[in-house]
Amino acid sequence: MRLDWQCAPVDAVRGTVRVPGDKSISHRAIMLGALAEGTTEVSGFLEGEDCLATMRAFQAMGVEIVHHGAGRVTIHGAGLHGLRAPAAPLDVGNSGTSMRLLAGVLAGQPFDAVLVGDASLMKRPMRRVTEPLALMGAEIVTSDVGTAPLVIHGRPLHGMDYTLPVASAQLKSALLLAGLFAEGTTRITETGVSRDHSERMLRGFGVSVEKDGATLAIRGGQRLSACEVVVPGDVSSAAFFIVAALIAREGALLLENVGMNPTRAAVVEILRAMGGDIEILHAREAGGEPVADLRVRPSQLHGIAIDEALVPIAIDEFPILFIAAACAEGETRATALHELRVKESDRLATMEAGLRALGVDCVAGADSMTIRGKAGTAFTGGTVESHGDHRIAMSFATAALRAAAPIVVRDCANVATSFPSFQALAQGVGMVVGDA
Ligand code: S3P
Repeated sequence: MRLDWQCAPVDAVRGTVRVPGDKSISHRAIMLGALAEGTTEVSGFLEGEDCLATMRAFQAMGVEIVHHGAGRVTIHGAGLHGLRAPAAPLDVGNSGTSMRLLAGVLAGQPFDAVLVGDASLMKRPMRRVTEPLALMGAEIVTSDVGTAPLVIHGRPLHGMDYTLPVASAQLKSALLLAGLFAEGTTRITETGVSRDHSERMLRGFGVSVEKDGATLAIRGGQRLSACEVVVPGDVSSAAFFIVAALIAREGALLLENVGMNPTRAAVVEILRAMGGDIEILHAREAGGEPVADLRVRPSQLHGIAIDEALVPIAIDEFPILFIAAACAEGETRATALHELRVKESDRLATMEAGLRALGVDCVAGADSMTIRGKAGTAFTGGTVESHGDHRIAMSFATAALRAAAPIVVRDCANVATSFPSFQALAQGVGMVVGDA
């Protein structure tokens, strides 16, 4: 289904927003709950297409999962060795997290399985996962160019010592999950920080994951015991509303229950460094993850050079950070952005094209972006292509707050993968995001 939005300029955003559950944590809750012994109760689960794809994949492997709605899910765990061969290829839609983490789970099963996805996912690089899994004994066939379909011939695996060539939590998590099924110990060394939800949640399920400096170690054969998983609000979804409140001319937003895991939430640090007025309230812990409420007020932002060390811990927030940069006085420059080229779209190219169509002075390099922003009206009106990328669509919808005329954003249906209620919540705080 093709869906375009018409987003009109307004002066103010006001109110309280509770963003839906964290996508990364929701995927992991289904996966670990399915592999555990006993019944796992999940609350705050993200009812987005990506996480539902993970749920359906485990249901297709015989796991009884009851989806009550309103973020509540009950998983009757099958145990470490309880998955059954799926009758058909597992279609995970747009979800890279489902495909890469499932590759890790499936590599060591006593059956074969095939993973497929939508047109965007079928173009994304999978060798980063299949090659290290092969070092553990896995047999996974990709296309000639290293993309899905992934044909996984389940085999006994053995542990290994491996240094991650990219700061990727999807890769790290795939190897940790494969390590559960491997004989011996799997040691994974990170060269940069990436989100640590898998390690945290594995420990919550009673699995020992040892950390020694930058190296994680997981022993194969450990059983998981069911537990309660409380999923915090997704900071990556909150980021659109944080920027909306910063670039609006008037008003303020209170964002409740936002996940503030330090390996995820660098967007807040970056926006504060740009002069953003973001107050962190009631910092607390929920379900093993740091959480807080954020009060955000309109601010005149200024350009900065974004520290490369923060890139992997704000990796999904660059599209909306570029919108903030276009509203900031002076130059914002970000480097080491190569991973943006292999997300749901080529996010450097898609953002550069959209920003230019709206009159923004910007240049994307091979792995960099430079934006010269301005105070006041930062964007002309116009039409931009999201290329079916949910985060691009929501970013340009937010940009309308500082546009001279409406912005039409094309191809927005995939917003349902990560944030199905975006349009309703945006309208609830005063933004105009209508169907075109
Ligand atoms: C994710 C990791 C990131 C991120 C993605 C979700 C995860 O991908 O972009 O949206 O849940 O582990 P990479 O690990 O490929 O950087």
